Amino acid sequence: MSPYAHITGWGMAVPERVLTNAELSLMVETSDEWIFSRTGIRERHIADPEQTTASLAVEASLEALRIARLKPADLDLIIVATSSPEHIFPATACLVQDRIGATKAGAFDLLAACSGFIYGLNMATQAISSGSVHTALVIGAETLSRLVDWKDRNTCILFGDGAGAFVLQAAEERAGVLSAVMRSDGSGSDLLTLPGGGSRFPTTIDTVTQGLHYVQMNGREVFRFATRVMSQSTQEAVAKAGLRLEDIQLVIPHQANQRIIETALKNLEIPPERCFINLDRYGNTSTASIPIATCEAFTAGRLKPGDNIVMVGFGAGLTWGAAVVEWSGPFPGVRKLRPARLRLYARIRSFILRLLRRIDAWMWGRNNP
Ligand SMILES: CC(C)(COP(=O)(O)OP(=O)(O)OC[C@H]1O[C@@H](n2cnc3c(N)ncnc32)[C@H](O)[C@@H]1OP(=O)(O)O)[C@@H](O)C(=O)NCCC(=O)NCCS
Repeated sequence: MSPYAHITGWGMAVPERVLTNAELSLMVETSDEWIFSRTGIRERHIADPEQTTASLAVEASLEALRIARLKPADLDLIIVATSSPEHIFPATACLVQDRIGATKAGAFDLLAACSGFIYGLNMATQAISSGSVHTALVIGAETLSRLVDWKDRNTCILFGDGAGAFVLQAAEERAGVLSAVMRSDGSGSDLLTLPGGGSRFPTTIDTVTQGLHYVQMNGREVFRFATRVMSQSTQEAVAKAGLRLEDIQLVIPHQANQRIIETALKNLEIPPERCFINLDRYGNTSTASIPIATCEAFTAGRLKPGDNIVMVGFGAGLTWGAAVVEWSGPFPGVRKLRPARLRLYARIRSFILRLLRRIDAWMWGRNNP
């Protein structure tokens, strides 16, 4: 029997700084009433200059490891799903690996825009069920505030910064991620895009003048696409898990727009009380929205062991997907972890590695003049 991937740890991190709709209405021509009625968003969190996608990811990850009672060295795999990586390369996942001291983990970034967390969850689950990996960390982390044009009211009202992380562990008992579906349609790639800064439009004065380094979106088309695929992929994932919609205790959707979520729930005939929504306080945090919502659903007492949950998302690409999870919680154990101490150990380790690399380069230079 293939092992199941149980979610045994979860954590989230959001910047302290809150940007309200009222503040936004001083920056662009908009209003709290317009934003709230069209999106359901009231406020979002915005990273301080010293906060980055990796630093938020590290905070969320250490919390997830604390809950799972695991050391960073227990991890075999780190996947960072992000639409706002720190660089094109190296992968943000490698920065996280170094800063938490996950000495035995492979690490890579996954780019499927706002569906990235569902894709990452599925990839980690496949790695666990194949037996090649025992323990994985899946992170959704964003600082999209750095990539939106704060003069473009079509996009800047929507997004927020934050990170969420899950620890996944192998177990024989049937629970954890029971099924997942992933879909894409690149014919809609122009509907939501950040065109500049890659190899197609490398950064030049021209690309910057044209604003190609900012998020561009056809909101109406994305809205139509999202309402269609949310219900479709939920139904597919539930059927794949051998369940019916009545067996689902909670839907945790990608938190992009209240009206998109309501339309999907209506199509599925799922009452709103079986859905968790927190986008009023965070806006669209892209890949981070599902794990952040999961953390808050747990804190609010909305998740119990044995509950069946659907996580469903959509995003640029176009991409979409859903996963069915049977909630189980941490494996029994008593190990206490102190995130601050782990962070310090990782720092010292990283410093020593960098120093050794310098010494090695110096010696190599002396021996090979
Ligand atoms: C962006 C979105 C909120 C816009 O809502 P909408 O009802 O479709 O609004 P429209 O784009 O049709 O614009 C209606 C009017 O409001 C204006 N408008 C757009 N943004 C505005 C804002 N922030 N404040 C005030 N007016 C605004 C438009 O200019 C337009 O004016 P016009 O009729 O004079 O041309 C909505 O389309 C949406 O949420 N789409 C999905 C986006 C999404 O989720 N993206 C992320 C995917 S992961």
